[in-house]
Amino acid sequence: MRKTPETYFIETYGCQMNVRDSETIAGIFERRGMHPVTSQEEADVILFNTCCVRDNPERKTFGNVGFTKALKDAHPDMIIAVCGCMMQQRQVAEKLFHRFPFVDLVFGTNALARLDSMLDAVMQGERLCIVNESDFTVVEGLPSHRAGGQSAFVNIMYGCNNFCTYCIVPYVRGRERSRMPEDIEAEVRSLVAEGYSEITLLGQNVNSYGRGLPVEIDFPALLRRLSPIPGLRRLRFMTSHPKDLSDGLIDAMATLDNVCPHIHLPLQSGSDRILRAMNRHYTADSYLELCRKLREKVADVEITTDIIVGFPGETEEDFSETMRVVKAAAYATAYSFKYSPREGTPGAAMPDQIAEDVKSDRLRRLNQLLTSLTECNNRTYVGRTGEVLVEGSGERDAAPFAFGKLPNFKMIYFPGSAELVGRYVSVRVDEVRGNSLFGKLV
Ligand code: 5AD
Ligand code: SF4
Repeated sequence: MRKTPETYFIETYGCQMNVRDSETIAGIFERRGMHPVTSQEEADVILFNTCCVRDNPERKTFGNVGFTKALKDAHPDMIIAVCGCMMQQRQVAEKLFHRFPFVDLVFGTNALARLDSMLDAVMQGERLCIVNESDFTVVEGLPSHRAGGQSAFVNIMYGCNNFCTYCIVPYVRGRERSRMPEDIEAEVRSLVAEGYSEITLLGQNVNSYGRGLPVEIDFPALLRRLSPIPGLRRLRFMTSHPKDLSDGLIDAMATLDNVCPHIHLPLQSGSDRILRAMNRHYTADSYLELCRKLREKVADVEITTDIIVGFPGETEEDFSETMRVVKAAAYATAYSFKYSPREGTPGAAMPDQIAEDVKSDRLRRLNQLLTSLTECNNRTYVGRTGEVLVEGSGERDAAPFAFGKLPNFKMIYFPGSAELVGRYVSVRVDEVRGNSLFGKLV
């Protein structure tokens, strides 16, 4: 039997889903009487929550896990665990488990609910590698340990059924499952009671919320159910798939005053040919029509997006279509990525993979365009006043500053101190500097 662990350190890679999962993991650790520490050296349990959506995360993750060997050599009772999306891929999980004999526990995304019993087994001296490709059920009632502050994430659904041909998510997060509306509502109510006033609803494709549930409900109806909760000042959500964005959602955004006027609407490509090859089920025109409707109906709305360059078969002409649509969509911000083949997805097996230097060149040109568009968008804010939820503070050239977001997700920096963090304040934008907005409290 090992020494009972008292402290933990969690390192999280990837998206908000993983951040949210790490809060559940922390909740399970806290329930065992453990508390967090700020460095790996002080931890009795080190856990890596991994991601595999793009780039070359494998090398980085294996490198970082490898570094813990020295710590473990110095503290043999230390427990090293690795979980998350990358560990839901059987070959990768098994490779890591065999390469690093000092790792005690490896488990995929769907084993998280059983973390307690896995830890018990590790305490008894076992080594475990748990990868299960079939058991993706929704587990309610797990504890959570959130970072605190005003803002919290709430899952409304897990997994994805869309199988965009570049994407690994449906393989590592399983089929789409929605949570029951009463469970979501109870969680939001208790978070608001704890003092969280901004809630972000999470799902890979929130617009298909409710499909397959034994009750009749869709995403706009869920928003209408949550919106009246007293004390809930800001209700956000992400991510929206353009193919499922309904007029009902646009209406809900337009009429429910605490539903924030921001939508993250991944475009991925502006070429209809590439969109078809990506299995996205919309066209550049139908996408732009959605943007037009959103802007017509939802006051002050901002649209953000994700774009992939260099998908297999992407010609210069396809890429210029993406550039054209990006200009027309007038995004507030866009996240741009080079296509990264994911083993096991249809895209990775497609002919005409694009050379790395071509991808890099397209990404550079796209980013140049995005920078100038962000600046144009920013300039429309000068002179405007809005409500900012203060998220953080810092110091630059001995002057304290604070920052936070407008309801539509625009970030503003202004002179202010740490006491403002967590408060809602009114800020007037005075100038655009680089890619950022600067203002003053009013
Ligand atoms: N290569 C590059 N980008 C990808 N994304 C998802 N899979 C890949 C991939 N294989 C991007 C998409 C998605 C965002 C979360 O990550 O743009 O919207
Ligand atoms: Fe991946 Fe497409 Fe599902 Fe998003 S909608 S998680 S990009 S398969």
